[in-house]
Amino acid sequence: MDCPTYHIPVMLNECIEGLNIKPDGIYLDLTYGGGGHSMEILSRLDDRGHLYGFDQDKDAMDGAIQDDKFTFVHSNFRFIGNWMRYYNVEGVDGILADLGVSSHHLDDGERGFSFRHDAPLDMRMNRKSSLTAYNIVMEYPEDRIADILYLYGELRHSRRIAAKIVKHRTKEEIKTTGQLAGIVAPLLNREREKKDLARVFQALRIEVNGEMKALGEMLESATSILNQGGRLVIMTYHSLEDRIVKNYIKKAGHNKDDNSTDSLIFGKPTSILKDLSKGAVIPSEEEININPRSRSAKLRIAEKR
Ligand SMILES: C[S@@+](CC[C@H](N)C(=O)[O-])C[C@H]1O[C@@H](n2cnc3c(N)ncnc32)[C@H](O)[C@@H]1O
Repeated sequence: MDCPTYHIPVMLNECIEGLNIKPDGIYLDLTYGGGGHSMEILSRLDDRGHLYGFDQDKDAMDGAIQDDKFTFVHSNFRFIGNWMRYYNVEGVDGILADLGVSSHHLDDGERGFSFRHDAPLDMRMNRKSSLTAYNIVMEYPEDRIADILYLYGELRHSRRIAAKIVKHRTKEEIKTTGQLAGIVAPLLNREREKKDLARVFQALRIEVNGEMKALGEMLESATSILNQGGRLVIMTYHSLEDRIVKNYIKKAGHNKDDNSTDSLIFGKPTSILKDLSKGAVIPSEEEININPRSRSAKLRIAEKR
């Protein structure tokens, strides 16, 4: 598999710098995708180091790197704690997560992630899971659809869009991305039509894949398996995800035995994660020009105390 056609890695240098790779360290790439970040991490490890690459999509596994220093794990990253126990790994030196979907998902005309292709309303990254976008559109109550569009798509017209979907589905089954786009598009401002349609699709995809829940669980497990001084590097593509990561870093694992000055004088507990990025790192204009998908990326880097 040729990595650039699968997915161009975003903020590659910034991620690698953030991981502060030790040649003999143990690293996790929780979102392998086309393996762009993984290849760069591997190139910095010697024979004592190891990289575990996770992806819940089998397509990523099909082209995975063959290397003695690399293990591909076909799993949701929610389960990293279990997997590390399985591999007898007691602690890791760095964890990278580049959240969301890959270009491969958006470009694949059959998986239903994009309104650019007419396809069944699916959107599952893991094709063995049961919930699809079709189930949401056809079966969820109107209020719940509206909440999903508002929360995960940040769409101001979420109630109107949900009402139109529900009205339409009583007359005709909504089976494809093309049908859904056709139902929703007339409600959107023409100038923003493509952007807002992308948000509708993003919102459904987040619900289908339980992305927020997985992110919360992953942050907890990742923090507990990091060695002291280990790095957590997380790249997000929309503001809700970024807020979750930012707030988690601020408050991670409030330490009960905390005797730091902040804690003693101000009663302010210290997070076990030290925020190294002090605000999110964003891609350069040059990178955005080469790879427009990177436009909304935000990178946060933390170190375990
Ligand atoms: C943005 S892409 C990563 C691209 C990768 N960094 C590269 O350079 O090619 C995100 C990948 O993570 C996977 N993914 C998203 N959420 C996941 C989860 N909860 N568990 C495991 N894999 C996940 C997706 O299937 C997708 O392949």
